[in-house]
Amino acid sequence: MTFLQVVWTDEVTGRPGYLVIDRLGRGVSSGGLRMRAGVTLDEVADLARGMSRKEALAYEPGLNYQPLGGAKGGIDCDPTSPDATGMLERYVAAMKPLLRDYWATGEDLGLRQEAIEAACRKAGMRTTIDAVLPLLDDPDAALARLDEAFAVRVGDISLGDLAGGCGVAEAALTALPDGRTAVIQGFGSMGGSTARFLADAGVRIVGISDAHGLIANPTGLDVEELLRSRDPYGRIDRARLRPEDMTLPGDAWLDLDCDILIPAAVSYSVGVAEAARVRARVVVEAANVPVTPQAEDLLRARGVVVVPDVVANSATNSWWWWTLFGDIPAEADAAFAKIRSWMRRVVGEILAGADATGRSPRAVAYELSERNL
Ligand SMILES: NC(=O)c1ccc[n+]([C@@H]2O[C@H](COP(=O)([O-])OP(=O)(O)OC[C@H]3O[C@@H](n4cnc5c(N)ncnc54)[C@H](O)[C@@H]3O)[C@@H](O)[C@H]2O)c1
Repeated sequence: MTFLQVVWTDEVTGRPGYLVIDRLGRGVSSGGLRMRAGVTLDEVADLARGMSRKEALAYEPGLNYQPLGGAKGGIDCDPTSPDATGMLERYVAAMKPLLRDYWATGEDLGLRQEAIEAACRKAGMRTTIDAVLPLLDDPDAALARLDEAFAVRVGDISLGDLAGGCGVAEAALTALPDGRTAVIQGFGSMGGSTARFLADAGVRIVGISDAHGLIANPTGLDVEELLRSRDPYGRIDRARLRPEDMTLPGDAWLDLDCDILIPAAVSYSVGVAEAARVRARVVVEAANVPVTPQAEDLLRARGVVVVPDVVANSATNSWWWWTLFGDIPAEADAAFAKIRSWMRRVVGEILAGADATGRSPRAVAYELSERNL
C-alpha cells in the first residue's frame, strides 16, 4: 500500500510532475528526483517501491544510520529544454511542504544535485534533505560533514558521483570475479563512475552509449579521455574520439560481445526482445528498473545472472546517509572501503541465497529487505 501519491500540473507548461512516497521509515522517506520527457506516475511509483527496498537492505545493526522509507519524484520535461530550470523550481515550490517534513531527495536521471539544491534554496529550504534533519543530534555538524564529502573530488569527479559507480563496479566484480570486458549504457553520474572503477580494476570497457548513440572498441575505450569529454548531460564529444573508436546506433549496445552488461541510463531498456540479444554472463542494474520482469525471466533461463538495482545501485543513497549520520568520515578512501565491503557482503549473500534455493537474486534480495523491514 502506497503512503502518498501526488500529481502536479505545471501552470506554465501544462506538463505534469509526480511524487510517490511509498512508505515512511522513522517518519521520513528517501528517494531521488528525475527529469525525463514522458516520465509516468507508474514509473515513479515503481521507483519509489524500489527505494523502500533499497533502504531496508541497507540495514546494519549498530550504525547511526537506520533505514528510512522510500520515495521518488519525477518531472515530465526534457532536461535539456529551456523550460527545465523553471519547471524544476515550480515543482520544488509546490512540493515544499512534503520536502520539508517527509521527503529527502537528491539527484536522479536528468538532474544534477546542484540544480535541485538551488531550487530548494530558492523555495526557502536549507537543503534537499531538510526532512531528515530532525533525526540528527547535531544537524549543523552533520550537514557540514556532508558538504565536505561532496566537495571531495577524485580525478575531477565528485565523491557524490563516484559513490554510486564504486558500488556498481563492486557488485559486478563480486558477481563475476573473472569478468574481463564490459559494456555500459549511459555515461552520466552512474555510468561514468562505474566505467572508471571497472577500468581501474582491469576490466576492458568495450562499449559505452549516451543519448546520442554507442561508442565501441573491442580493444578497449579510453575511459578517462571520454570522461573528460563529457558534457553536464553525460554526452560524449564525438570530435574527441580516437580513430579506432567506432560510433554505432545506441541500440547496438546489446549486441556487443562482453562479460558484464551494465544498463546505467533509462528504465525499461531491456525488454523481452532485448533480452534475447544480450551476450553477457552478468547484467548489473546501475539504472533503476532497466530490465523488465519478463526479460529477467528469459535471461535467467539462459543462465545470465541479473544483479538487481535495489542492491547494485544503492551505494549513492547509503553513502549519503552513512556520511550524514556520521558512520563514515568525509573522505574518499573511507567511503570506498565502506561501499566495497557492504556491497561485497550483500551481493555475496544474495547470490549465495539464489544458488542455494534456485530463486532469482531479485527474489532473494526482496526477501532480505522484507526481513529487515
Ligand atoms: N545518480 C544517482 O545517484 C543514481 C543512483 C541510483 C540509481 N540511479 C539510476 O541510474 C540511472 C542513470 O542515472 P544518472 O544519475 O547517471 O543519470 P544522468 O542524467 O547523470 O546520466 C544519464 C546518461 O544516460 C544517457 N542516456 C539518456 N538516454 C539514453 C538512452 N536512451 N540510451 C543511452 N543512453 C542514454 C545520457 O546521455 C547520460 O549519459 C537512472 O536510472 C537512475 O535512476 C542514479
